[in-house]
Amino acid sequence: MDKIHSLTGMIDLVSQKTDKSETANKIFFIEKILRSIFKNYSLSEIRTPALEDESLFKRSVGDSSDIVNKELYSFLDKNDKRIVLRPEGTAGVIRSIIEKKIDGDTHKLWYLGPMWRYERPQKGRFRQFYQAGVEILGYEEGLAELEMISLICSLNKALDIKNPVIKINHLGNKDCKKNFCNDLVDYLRPMSADLEKKDLERLTKNPLRILDSKNPETQNILNNAPLMIDYLPQESKDLLELIKDMFSDDCNIKIDYKLVRGLDYYTGFVFEAISDELGAQDAYLGGGRYDELCSQLGGKNLPAIGMAIGIERLACLVNTLENTKTLLSFIILSSKIEQKAYKIAHNLRLLNNKINLDTQLSRGSLKSKLRRANKDNASYALIIGEEELKSNTVVVKPLLDKNSQQSSMSLSELYDFVRSLT
Ligand code: HAM
Repeated sequence: MDKIHSLTGMIDLVSQKTDKSETANKIFFIEKILRSIFKNYSLSEIRTPALEDESLFKRSVGDSSDIVNKELYSFLDKNDKRIVLRPEGTAGVIRSIIEKKIDGDTHKLWYLGPMWRYERPQKGRFRQFYQAGVEILGYEEGLAELEMISLICSLNKALDIKNPVIKINHLGNKDCKKNFCNDLVDYLRPMSADLEKKDLERLTKNPLRILDSKNPETQNILNNAPLMIDYLPQESKDLLELIKDMFSDDCNIKIDYKLVRGLDYYTGFVFEAISDELGAQDAYLGGGRYDELCSQLGGKNLPAIGMAIGIERLACLVNTLENTKTLLSFIILSSKIEQKAYKIAHNLRLLNNKINLDTQLSRGSLKSKLRRANKDNASYALIIGEEELKSNTVVVKPLLDKNSQQSSMSLSELYDFVRSLT
């Protein structure tokens, strides 16, 4: 029979000792660390559905963005309603806040979950990928920006990220953004014959995005283009300098006046964290201020800033893994005593939740079970047969230290021993 394969750009994460790259283990470790950092910043968790009404993303991420234009996983449901698998988390969070009528309050939120974008898969780019996001709602520009950068410094440190650089920029206020865009279009229009199709489309739909073009010819043309910095109000430039000064001891922060983001809802301060270890897809997180999104979606005026972390990309930058717990391999030698012996394993787990106890559930010889325990890198094999059960004892065999001898322990000695393990 034909085998069924996973869909293009979608990967299975299986935590297995045979996975040499340890991708799944790294991802699960990262998620654990991020949860503890989010707690450290007093953020609350929010979970929104993976499926949303398509118009939510058209009205937020924007019609001119690649995400909405080309990459939406969009379907008609059984009721002919157009729904999409969410390509990002921010729009759903704001929809939820408005729907719950709590868009007049302040919120500090985090989420973690899969997102879907129909992109051309390549290194660091998947069609299903995981994001951990943070949205800080109800706070004007100022301390909330510092909170974002502080959080990025914390995660860089906690995960010991290789060569991180935080790029920051400011898109200014509405007026300066408009003036800059007008002048940029005036500058580029006479050269439109030299622009590739994608950039030409951007010229009418969202000229700011041209600054982000990967095309070397476009970048050449941009060399003499008007510069965003000349249009920014002083307070925006001051904020960038303040952030650079305040966090430069902990992080490599670079002001990049060409940094624009691929989603339409950004209004002020924007940022991305990159690492040259990642190759072409070098951003492992990105975000910014989006003060108009809530009112655009029918809610109140809610100032907001947020970011999302690409977990798979972060995994490429992480070397350390969680210290594994002591592994005990529990070996039952006779099918006649299986249930009674199993109860001992159950008691041991309740005694100390720091240990990792593998009850070998299959029947087999002592030799094959010891082979499996060694393969799993177990520290000890706990062996129990009919004789041991009768005398309330268990044989404890150290597996990592080949010079140590196995010993027989009474159940109470075993319980003390297991309690003492870390
Ligand atoms: P974004 O820049 O589109 O922002 O995505 C954030 C991060 O998700 C990227 O920096 C990247 O690490 C990861 N990512 C994006 N696409 C893929 C992909 N196809 N495969 C693997 N990783 C990917 C947002 O999504 C905004 N919602 C961030 C935000 C939150 N802004 C304000 N609040």
